[in-house]
Amino acid sequence: MKYQNIIVEKKAPKAYITINRPKQLNALNKATIDELHDAFDDLNKDKDIHVIILTGAGEKAFVAGADIKEFMNFNEEQGKNLAAQGQEQLFDFVEGLETPVIAAVNGFALGGGLELALASHIRVASDNAKVGLPEVSLGVIPGYGGTQRLAQIIGKGRALEMILTAEMKDANTAKEYGLFSVVVPRDQLLNTADEMADKILKNSPQAIALAIKAVNAGYGREGFEKEIELFGKAFTTTDFKEGTSAFVERRKPDFTKN
Ligand code: CAA
Repeated sequence: MKYQNIIVEKKAPKAYITINRPKQLNALNKATIDELHDAFDDLNKDKDIHVIILTGAGEKAFVAGADIKEFMNFNEEQGKNLAAQGQEQLFDFVEGLETPVIAAVNGFALGGGLELALASHIRVASDNAKVGLPEVSLGVIPGYGGTQRLAQIIGKGRALEMILTAEMKDANTAKEYGLFSVVVPRDQLLNTADEMADKILKNSPQAIALAIKAVNAGYGREGFEKEIELFGKAFTTTDFKEGTSAFVERRKPDFTKN
């Protein structure tokens, strides 16, 4: 089998990618990021595929973030590399695809999970979706483009509120913020994503590819570079050690002792 962590189904002109690590709430470890890159690359090159729908397996999560257990012992350089490679391989890659990607957000979309939805071209959600960038509660910052794309999509004020409080927003609040185009009951989510795809499929694929490129051209790269540098810096702090240890030990972090 080509993929261990994702399921790819082609039903031309549509294709579906399901992130399939439900026991770990579909957290993005390196292997999953590698597979997602390969799948998106294959589908983008496939002349019969004109829309890609991305979702998560299971009832609980779209993606609960980057895999905390994988990076909790990283140093600054490894932290920087994690963010830089992830952005290049997956998040910037998805945003820059010629084939539009619809994220069908079916539960928790946290940290890297929300960042993946933000890198997608369109977001639809089920009413149990919960979104957030909880990184500062772990002593780190969003590193997969979240500090940039969340502000681009919902505005700086709301983005800072979400990033600094680390709180989750429910699906309807996220829709009000402009983060989701539509919120529907869970059993209608994939149909709704299909309907959105059908609207896109009536249009010129070549013009769509050009439109994506033109919209993306309006946003600079400097902020993403800064995010990578500061994400790495967070790995040098005592708060990062405390925050990530607290997560795996299932306790509240105590940031006062640092
Ligand atoms: N990384 C690794 N494992 C994760 C994970 C993550 N981001 N999110 C959940 N899991 C694992 C849990 O450790 C648990 O595994 P075990 O059964 O082996 O212990 C399993 O998934 C189920 O999770 P919970 O038992 O915690 O489920 P819950 O229903 O009690 O809570 C939750 C759900 C609120 C989403 C909680 O799992 C949670 O807070 N997850 C972490 C969310 C988070 O902080 N995401 C940001 C990650 S950092 C990041 O993404 C950095 C970046 O920008 C690059």
